Amino acid sequence: MKKIMITGASGLLGRALFNTFSDHFEVIGTAFSRASEPLVPLNLTDFRALEDFLITHKPHYLIHAAAERRPEVCLENPELTQQLNVSLPAALANLCHQHQVELFFISSDYVFDGTSPPYAETAQPAPLNDYGISKYQAEQAVLAYPQHNVVRIPVLYGAVEKIDESALTITWQQLIQSNAPKMDNWAVRYPTHVDDIAKTLKAIITQLDKSERGGVFHISDTTPYTKFQLACALADAFGYDKSQITAMDSPVGQAARPQNCQLSDNRLAKKGILYQRDAIKGLIEAVRPFVKQPEV
Ligand SMILES: NC(=O)c1ccc[n+]([C@@H]2O[C@H](COP(=O)([O-])OP(=O)(O)OC[C@H]3O[C@@H](n4cnc5c(N)ncnc54)[C@H](OP(=O)(O)O)[C@@H]3O)[C@@H](O)[C@H]2O)c1
Repeated sequence: MKKIMITGASGLLGRALFNTFSDHFEVIGTAFSRASEPLVPLNLTDFRALEDFLITHKPHYLIHAAAERRPEVCLENPELTQQLNVSLPAALANLCHQHQVELFFISSDYVFDGTSPPYAETAQPAPLNDYGISKYQAEQAVLAYPQHNVVRIPVLYGAVEKIDESALTITWQQLIQSNAPKMDNWAVRYPTHVDDIAKTLKAIITQLDKSERGGVFHISDTTPYTKFQLACALADAFGYDKSQITAMDSPVGQAARPQNCQLSDNRLAKKGILYQRDAIKGLIEAVRPFVKQPEV
Protein backbone atom coordinates (compact mmCIF):
# COMPACT_ATOMS: atom_id res chain seq x y z
CA MET A 1 0.00 0.00 0.00
CA LYS A 2 1.33 3.46 -0.91
CA LYS A 3 1.98 5.82 1.97
CA ILE A 4 0.88 9.47 1.88
CA MET A 5 1.64 12.20 4.38
CA ILE A 6 -0.82 15.10 4.71
CA THR A 7 0.19 18.25 6.56
CA GLY A 8 -2.53 20.52 7.92
CA ALA A 9 -4.72 17.43 8.35
CA SER A 10 -6.70 19.15 11.12
CA GLY A 11 -7.67 21.98 8.74
CA LEU A 12 -10.65 22.39 6.43
CA LEU A 13 -8.99 20.86 3.37
CA GLY A 14 -6.69 18.53 5.31
CA ARG A 15 -9.62 16.73 6.98
CA ALA A 16 -11.19 16.02 3.58
CA LEU A 17 -7.85 14.82 2.22
CA PHE A 18 -7.31 12.55 5.22
CA ASN A 19 -10.77 10.96 4.84
CA THR A 20 -10.61 10.63 1.05
CA PHE A 21 -7.20 8.99 0.92
CA SER A 22 -7.77 6.69 3.91
CA ASP A 23 -9.47 3.90 1.95
CA HIS A 24 -6.64 3.10 -0.50
CA PHE A 25 -3.55 4.63 1.13
CA GLU A 26 -1.70 4.43 4.38
CA VAL A 27 -2.28 8.01 5.52
CA ILE A 28 -0.17 9.92 8.02
CA GLY A 29 -1.92 13.17 8.91
CA THR A 30 -0.03 15.81 10.86
CA ALA A 31 -1.47 18.71 12.83
CA PHE A 32 -0.29 21.36 15.24
CA SER A 33 -2.66 22.89 17.82
CA ARG A 34 -5.47 20.43 16.97
CA ALA A 35 -3.41 17.25 16.89
CA SER A 36 -5.60 14.51 18.32
CA GLU A 37 -5.82 10.82 17.29
CA PRO A 38 -5.45 9.69 14.55
CA LEU A 39 -3.44 12.82 13.66
CA VAL A 40 0.19 13.13 14.68
CA PRO A 41 1.55 16.31 16.30
CA LEU A 42 4.33 17.96 14.30
CA ASN A 43 5.50 21.56 14.35
CA LEU A 44 6.40 21.93 10.70
CA THR A 45 8.49 25.03 11.32
CA ASP A 46 10.96 22.81 13.19
CA PHE A 47 12.75 21.69 10.02
CA ARG A 48 14.97 19.17 11.83
CA ALA A 49 11.93 17.45 13.34
CA LEU A 50 10.32 17.56 9.91
CA GLU A 51 13.27 15.81 8.28
CA ASP A 52 13.39 13.20 11.06
CA PHE A 53 9.67 12.62 10.51
CA LEU A 54 10.18 12.08 6.76
CA ILE A 55 13.09 9.71 7.37
CA THR A 56 11.07 7.74 9.94
CA HIS A 57 7.84 7.47 7.96
CA LYS A 58 9.20 7.42 4.38
CA PRO A 59 5.99 8.47 2.58
CA HIS A 60 5.72 8.07 -1.19
CA TYR A 61 3.70 11.30 -1.48
CA LEU A 62 3.26 14.40 0.63
CA ILE A 63 0.34 16.82 0.30
CA HIS A 64 1.31 20.05 2.01
CA ALA A 65 -1.93 21.75 3.05
CA ALA A 66 -0.71 23.53 6.21
CA ALA A 67 -0.48 27.31 5.77
CA GLU A 68 -1.80 30.63 6.98
CA ARG A 69 -4.57 31.29 4.47
CA ARG A 70 -6.19 34.46 5.83
CA PRO A 71 -4.97 37.55 3.90
CA GLU A 72 -5.50 39.94 6.83
CA VAL A 73 -3.50 37.68 9.20
CA CYS A 74 -0.70 37.51 6.61
CA LEU A 75 -0.77 41.30 6.27
CA GLU A 76 -0.43 41.75 10.02
CA ASN A 77 2.13 38.96 10.61
CA PRO A 78 4.84 39.15 7.96
CA GLU A 79 7.33 36.98 9.92
CA LEU A 80 4.83 34.19 10.49
CA THR A 81 3.77 34.38 6.85
CA GLN A 82 7.36 34.17 5.64
CA GLN A 83 8.13 31.23 7.90
CA LEU A 84 4.96 29.20 7.43
CA ASN A 85 4.01 30.06 3.86
CA VAL A 86 7.43 30.50 2.18
CA SER A 87 10.41 29.09 4.14
CA LEU A 88 8.54 25.92 5.14
CA PRO A 89 7.36 24.85 1.66
CA ALA A 90 10.78 25.74 0.25
CA ALA A 91 12.49 23.53 2.86
CA LEU A 92 9.91 20.82 2.28
CA ALA A 93 10.54 20.86 -1.48
CA ASN A 94 14.24 20.29 -0.85
CA LEU A 95 13.70 17.60 1.80
CA CYS A 96 11.18 15.76 -0.38
CA HIS A 97 13.65 15.86 -3.26
CA GLN A 98 16.42 14.45 -1.05
CA HIS A 99 14.22 11.67 0.30
CA GLN A 100 12.42 10.76 -2.96
CA VAL A 101 9.00 11.98 -1.84
CA GLU A 102 6.67 13.47 -4.48
CA LEU A 103 5.35 16.78 -3.15
CA PHE A 104 1.94 18.32 -3.81
CA PHE A 105 2.03 21.92 -2.60
CA ILE A 106 -1.41 23.48 -2.15
CA SER A 107 -1.40 27.00 -3.55
CA SER A 108 -4.10 29.54 -4.31
CA ASP A 109 -5.89 31.46 -7.06
CA TYR A 110 -4.68 34.56 -5.18
CA VAL A 111 -1.34 34.27 -7.02
CA PHE A 112 -3.20 36.07 -9.85
CA ASP A 113 -4.26 39.71 -9.90
CA GLY A 114 -7.78 38.94 -11.10
CA THR A 115 -7.80 41.37 -14.03
CA SER A 116 -7.81 38.91 -16.96
CA PRO A 117 -9.57 35.62 -16.15
CA PRO A 118 -9.63 32.77 -16.84
CA TYR A 119 -6.08 31.81 -15.87
CA ALA A 120 -4.42 28.76 -17.41
CA GLU A 121 -1.78 26.77 -15.54
CA THR A 122 0.84 28.58 -17.64
CA ALA A 123 -0.45 32.12 -16.91
CA GLN A 124 1.98 34.50 -15.24
CA PRO A 125 1.14 35.12 -11.55
CA ALA A 126 0.98 38.71 -10.28
CA PRO A 127 -0.26 38.55 -6.67
CA LEU A 128 -1.86 41.60 -5.07
CA ASN A 129 -1.56 40.86 -1.35
CA ASP A 130 0.96 39.40 1.11
CA TYR A 131 -0.80 36.04 1.21
CA GLY A 132 -0.74 35.74 -2.60
CA ILE A 133 2.90 36.87 -2.70
CA SER A 134 3.85 34.24 -0.12
CA LYS A 135 2.11 31.51 -2.11
CA TYR A 136 3.81 32.61 -5.33
CA GLN A 137 7.24 32.65 -3.68
CA ALA A 138 6.63 29.15 -2.33
CA GLU A 139 5.47 27.95 -5.75
CA GLN A 140 8.75 29.07 -7.30
CA ALA A 141 10.75 27.12 -4.71
CA VAL A 142 8.63 24.00 -5.27
CA LEU A 143 8.76 24.23 -9.07
CA ALA A 144 12.56 24.24 -8.97
CA TYR A 145 12.07 20.44 -8.70
CA PRO A 146 10.30 19.17 -11.85
CA GLN A 147 8.86 16.10 -10.11
CA HIS A 148 6.99 18.23 -7.57
CA ASN A 149 3.47 19.60 -8.03
CA VAL A 150 1.85 22.97 -7.35
CA VAL A 151 -1.92 22.68 -6.97
CA ARG A 152 -3.80 25.98 -7.19
CA ILE A 153 -7.31 26.06 -5.75
CA PRO A 154 -10.00 28.74 -5.17
CA VAL A 155 -12.07 29.58 -2.10
CA LEU A 156 -13.17 26.47 -0.21
CA TYR A 157 -16.18 25.26 1.74
CA GLY A 158 -17.22 21.93 3.20
CA ALA A 159 -17.96 20.36 6.58
CA VAL A 160 -16.74 23.10 8.92
CA GLU A 161 -15.98 22.69 12.63
CA LYS A 162 -16.85 26.35 13.23
CA ILE A 163 -19.05 28.61 11.13
CA ASP A 164 -16.15 31.02 10.54
CA GLU A 165 -13.74 28.29 9.38
CA SER A 166 -14.49 28.94 5.70
CA ALA A 167 -14.58 32.35 4.02
CA LEU A 168 -17.95 31.23 2.61
CA THR A 169 -19.72 29.64 5.60
CA ILE A 170 -18.87 32.74 7.65
CA THR A 171 -21.39 34.54 5.42
CA TRP A 172 -24.20 33.04 7.51
CA GLN A 173 -22.66 34.35 10.74
CA GLN A 174 -22.29 37.80 9.17
CA LEU A 175 -25.94 37.72 8.09
CA ILE A 176 -27.40 36.84 11.48
CA GLN A 177 -25.06 39.05 13.53
CA SER A 178 -25.81 42.27 11.66
CA ASN A 179 -29.03 44.28 11.41
CA ALA A 180 -28.03 45.60 7.98
CA PRO A 181 -25.46 43.20 6.51
CA LYS A 182 -23.29 44.44 3.66
CA MET A 183 -22.02 41.76 1.28
CA ASP A 184 -19.31 41.92 -1.36
CA ASN A 185 -20.87 41.96 -4.82
CA TRP A 186 -17.60 42.99 -6.53
CA ALA A 187 -15.32 39.96 -6.18
CA VAL A 188 -16.28 36.95 -8.30
CA ARG A 189 -15.40 33.59 -6.77
CA TYR A 190 -15.70 29.93 -7.73
CA PRO A 191 -16.65 28.13 -4.50
CA THR A 192 -15.20 24.63 -4.50
CA HIS A 193 -16.03 21.84 -2.06
CA VAL A 194 -13.06 20.36 -0.19
CA ASP A 195 -14.28 16.83 -0.96
CA ASP A 196 -14.03 17.59 -4.70
CA ILE A 197 -10.47 18.91 -4.29
CA ALA A 198 -9.58 15.75 -2.33
CA LYS A 199 -11.13 13.42 -4.93
CA THR A 200 -9.31 15.27 -7.71
CA LEU A 201 -5.97 14.99 -5.93
CA LYS A 202 -6.56 11.30 -5.39
CA ALA A 203 -7.32 10.91 -9.12
CA ILE A 204 -4.14 12.83 -10.03
CA ILE A 205 -2.09 10.43 -7.92
CA THR A 206 -3.87 7.20 -8.83
CA GLN A 207 -4.87 7.80 -12.47
CA LEU A 208 -2.06 9.85 -13.95
CA ASP A 209 1.24 8.29 -14.83
CA LYS A 210 4.24 9.79 -13.04
CA SER A 211 5.36 11.25 -16.40
CA GLU A 212 2.01 13.15 -16.54
CA ARG A 213 2.52 14.72 -13.10
CA GLY A 214 4.86 17.49 -12.00
CA GLY A 215 4.39 21.24 -12.50
CA VAL A 216 1.20 23.24 -12.00
CA PHE A 217 -2.33 21.86 -11.69
CA HIS A 218 -5.49 23.95 -11.34
CA ILE A 219 -8.55 22.51 -9.59
CA SER A 220 -11.72 24.61 -9.52
CA ASP A 221 -15.47 24.46 -9.77
CA THR A 222 -16.80 26.53 -12.67
CA THR A 223 -19.84 28.46 -11.47
CA PRO A 224 -19.18 32.09 -10.51
CA TYR A 225 -20.76 33.71 -7.46
CA THR A 226 -20.31 36.88 -5.49
CA LYS A 227 -20.59 36.71 -1.73
CA PHE A 228 -23.78 38.81 -2.03
CA GLN A 229 -25.34 36.14 -4.26
CA LEU A 230 -24.36 33.38 -1.83
CA ALA A 231 -25.76 35.38 1.09
CA CYS A 232 -29.09 35.80 -0.72
CA ALA A 233 -29.21 32.05 -1.40
CA LEU A 234 -28.58 31.27 2.28
CA ALA A 235 -31.22 33.84 3.26
CA ASP A 236 -33.77 32.13 0.98
CA ALA A 237 -32.88 28.68 2.33
CA PHE A 238 -33.12 29.56 6.00
CA GLY A 239 -35.92 32.12 6.12
CA TYR A 240 -33.88 35.30 6.47
CA ASP A 241 -35.21 38.49 4.86
CA LYS A 242 -32.76 39.08 2.02
CA SER A 243 -34.05 42.60 1.37
CA GLN A 244 -31.97 43.53 4.47
CA ILE A 245 -28.73 42.68 2.62
CA THR A 246 -26.85 45.49 0.88
CA ALA A 247 -24.70 44.65 -2.17
CA MET A 248 -21.25 46.27 -2.03
CA ASP A 249 -20.03 47.01 -5.56
CA SER A 250 -16.47 47.98 -4.64
CA PRO A 251 -13.66 45.96 -2.98
CA VAL A 252 -13.99 45.16 0.74
CA GLY A 253 -11.38 44.01 3.30
CA GLN A 254 -8.13 45.44 4.58
CA ALA A 255 -5.89 43.35 2.31
CA ALA A 256 -6.15 43.90 -1.46
CA ARG A 257 -7.99 41.12 -3.24
CA PRO A 258 -8.23 40.06 -6.90
CA GLN A 259 -11.62 40.65 -8.53
CA ASN A 260 -11.86 37.46 -10.58
CA CYS A 261 -9.08 34.87 -10.67
CA GLN A 262 -10.97 32.03 -12.32
CA LEU A 263 -8.71 29.01 -12.72
CA SER A 264 -8.88 26.94 -15.92
CA ASP A 265 -8.10 23.32 -15.14
CA ASN A 266 -6.88 22.51 -18.67
CA ARG A 267 -4.54 19.67 -17.67
CA LEU A 268 -7.20 17.80 -15.71
CA ALA A 269 -9.95 18.46 -18.29
CA LYS A 270 -7.80 16.75 -20.94
CA LYS A 271 -7.63 13.69 -18.70
CA GLY A 272 -11.36 13.74 -17.90
CA ILE A 273 -10.72 14.34 -14.20
CA LEU A 274 -13.58 16.54 -13.02
CA TYR A 275 -15.40 16.58 -9.69
CA GLN A 276 -17.95 19.37 -9.29
CA ARG A 277 -21.25 20.08 -7.55
CA ASP A 278 -23.95 22.71 -7.08
CA ALA A 279 -22.21 25.21 -4.79
CA ILE A 280 -25.46 26.68 -3.45
CA LYS A 281 -26.73 23.26 -2.34
CA GLY A 282 -23.29 22.38 -0.96
CA LEU A 283 -23.01 25.63 0.99
CA ILE A 284 -26.51 25.25 2.44
CA GLU A 285 -25.54 21.78 3.71
CA ALA A 286 -22.32 23.14 5.21
CA VAL A 287 -24.17 25.94 7.02
CA ARG A 288 -27.25 23.91 8.08
CA PRO A 289 -25.76 22.53 11.37
CA PHE A 290 -25.26 26.13 12.56
CA VAL A 291 -28.78 27.41 11.77
CA LYS A 292 -31.05 27.75 14.77
CA GLN A 293 -34.15 29.13 13.02
CA PRO A 294 -36.70 26.70 11.59
CA GLU A 295 -36.14 26.18 7.87
CA VAL A 296 -38.86 27.51 5.51
N1 LIG B 1 -9.56 27.85 2.69
C1 LIG B 1 -9.58 28.40 1.49
O1 LIG B 1 -10.58 29.00 1.06
C2 LIG B 1 -8.37 28.27 0.59
C3 LIG B 1 -8.40 28.84 -0.69
C4 LIG B 1 -7.29 28.69 -1.53
C5 LIG B 1 -6.17 28.01 -1.07
N2 LIG B 1 -6.16 27.49 0.18
C6 LIG B 1 -4.97 26.77 0.64
O2 LIG B 1 -5.36 25.45 0.97
C7 LIG B 1 -4.55 24.96 2.05
C8 LIG B 1 -5.44 24.44 3.16
O3 LIG B 1 -6.22 25.53 3.63
P1 LIG B 1 -7.28 25.33 4.82
O4 LIG B 1 -8.36 26.32 4.64
O5 LIG B 1 -7.61 23.88 4.97
O6 LIG B 1 -6.39 25.78 6.07
P2 LIG B 1 -6.81 25.80 7.60
O7 LIG B 1 -8.17 25.19 7.78
O8 LIG B 1 -6.58 27.19 8.08
O9 LIG B 1 -5.75 24.82 8.28
C9 LIG B 1 -4.42 25.19 8.41
C10 LIG B 1 -3.66 23.97 8.87
O10 LIG B 1 -2.27 24.33 9.04
C11 LIG B 1 -1.82 23.74 10.25
N3 LIG B 1 -0.68 24.49 10.78
C12 LIG B 1 -0.59 25.80 11.02
N4 LIG B 1 0.62 26.10 11.54
C13 LIG B 1 1.30 24.93 11.65
C14 LIG B 1 2.59 24.55 12.13
N5 LIG B 1 3.47 25.46 12.62
N6 LIG B 1 2.96 23.25 12.10
C15 LIG B 1 2.10 22.33 11.63
N7 LIG B 1 0.87 22.61 11.14
C16 LIG B 1 0.47 23.91 11.17
C17 LIG B 1 -3.03 23.81 11.16
O11 LIG B 1 -2.87 22.91 12.23
P3 LIG B 1 -3.67 23.11 13.64
O12 LIG B 1 -5.02 23.66 13.31
O13 LIG B 1 -3.70 21.73 14.22
O14 LIG B 1 -2.86 24.08 14.45
C18 LIG B 1 -4.14 23.41 10.19
O15 LIG B 1 -4.22 22.00 10.09
C19 LIG B 1 -3.62 26.11 2.44
O16 LIG B 1 -2.40 25.96 1.78
C20 LIG B 1 -4.34 27.34 1.90
O17 LIG B 1 -3.43 28.38 1.61
C21 LIG B 1 -7.23 27.60 1.02
